[in-house]
Amino acid sequence: MILDNNILSHIGNSPVLSLQELMPVGSAQLFVKLEGYNPGGSIKDRAALNMILEAEKSGELKPGGTIVESSSGNLGAALAMISAVRGYKCIIIVDPRTSQHNISMLKAFGAQVDIVIDKNPQDGTYQEARIKRAHHLADTLPNAYMPWQYGNPRNPAAHIDTTALEILNDFPMAPDVLVASVSTAGQITGIGKGLRKRNAKTKIVGVDVKGSVVFGGSKGPTAVTGMGLGWVPDNLDEKVVDEAFLVYTQPCFTTVRIIAKKLGILLGGSSGASIFVAIHQALNLGPDKIVLAISADRGEKYLDEFYNDAWLREKGLSALDDHSVILAQAAALTPFRYPAKEINLSAA
Ligand SMILES: Cc1ncc(COP(=O)(O)O)c(C=O)c1O
Repeated sequence: MILDNNILSHIGNSPVLSLQELMPVGSAQLFVKLEGYNPGGSIKDRAALNMILEAEKSGELKPGGTIVESSSGNLGAALAMISAVRGYKCIIIVDPRTSQHNISMLKAFGAQVDIVIDKNPQDGTYQEARIKRAHHLADTLPNAYMPWQYGNPRNPAAHIDTTALEILNDFPMAPDVLVASVSTAGQITGIGKGLRKRNAKTKIVGVDVKGSVVFGGSKGPTAVTGMGLGWVPDNLDEKVVDEAFLVYTQPCFTTVRIIAKKLGILLGGSSGASIFVAIHQALNLGPDKIVLAISADRGEKYLDEFYNDAWLREKGLSALDDHSVILAQAAALTPFRYPAKEINLSAA
């Protein structure tokens, strides 16, 4: 296969993998959509591309301008990659907890990396300092544009006619359940709206981690990269979320470690969150039903983190990958919140 010479045209059309091997006989059919196959390595390629293309169209982003955003992970990498292709300067605000891998990736794409060091004394996070710095740069640098992924409607919109449509192409009867992890809520809101727009009766399930407040949990430290927010993002459209779960860190990591050993594929920790809850859903449905989890990124960048037994033990976590324990824990999950409303087919 000869790649089109614009790497950005290869964003989207991610493959789907069966996870049936994880499930006991009699459960629903379990699949995962592998967003890590996007060229920048994650689902955020889609959001970044749509935010940039639309900002170009509206004139908010001018040729040769500077893109500024706070991101310690995938959105930053996606913006840096797209900036390289489309000729923008890119400044990404990170913090001391950002992994060396992610910083190296930003620099490899030619982005400038700006590190903030002011920690919030109450919860030990850097999010407020990062956002303040990003706003300051966007307001003071000439010709600067800040996408603001948490409240930019072009983030969820990136999925409505792409990710959701791909899902319906792969599953023409529509999955019975779709499970997605949340942070900015771009993927869950956008995919959910895209499915509703096409009258799919899919139950949309959101997964957040303990310590994150997106679905109303209490604020505290979080350890799953890509998840964990101290506020409710404007991009969360509660009308499209039918059920919400809060999960601990351990099963997120154990789930993807088991998948690596059984299926030979490395997925990120947030994929563990969505797949763990998808297992719960599949255990409660019959074999004629379809449950689809979204995997936001691949696992290579976490090899020195939760794929490393010593790292896990240092964090007080277990490195024992017991499949039967994960199945039992998934079976025992209860939703954190039912938004308790009917599916509104005109929500899109
Ligand atoms: C690895 C990973 N998982 C999950 C998410 C959450 O996706 P969203 O921001 O669309 O809610 C992100 C977002 O950055 C991510 O990078």
